Amino acid sequence: MNVTVSRKAHFNAAHKLYNSDWTDARNTLVFGKCSNPNYHGHNYELIVSVKGLIHPETGFVMDMKELKLIINTEIIDVFDHKNLNEELLEFSTLNPTAENIAVIIWNKLRSKIDNNLKLTITLYETPRNFVTYSGD
Ligand code: NI
Repeated sequence: MNVTVSRKAHFNAAHKLYNSDWTDARNTLVFGKCSNPNYHGHNYELIVSVKGLIHPETGFVMDMKELKLIINTEIIDVFDHKNLNEELLEFSTLNPTAENIAVIIWNKLRSKIDNNLKLTITLYETPRNFVTYSGD
């Protein structure tokens, strides 16, 4: 009997989307306002989901206090109020799209969470646009 438990978190961050191999015109065409050279911010909503068996002694899939601490330490402390392009090494050459941010977050959390648990990241860049990554 596998059960999924989830924790919501939030961070604010700035980014720009830009491909330096392209002209400014093509960047504007593809990335729109997100290619603004002076950056812009998003209120990112993060949902971290962990799926696994209920532990018979605790009744938990995972202790949510522990999950909260891992998210705060590994993700919120690192991403919140940062310029992702300028301040996070991962995005020095990687476009900080919601897709790429979700993959980076998944990679950071995967090593901190029991391997018997399946990890899924859902990242909202806007209330209507969100991406999901499960390591597949
Ligand atoms: Ni944007």
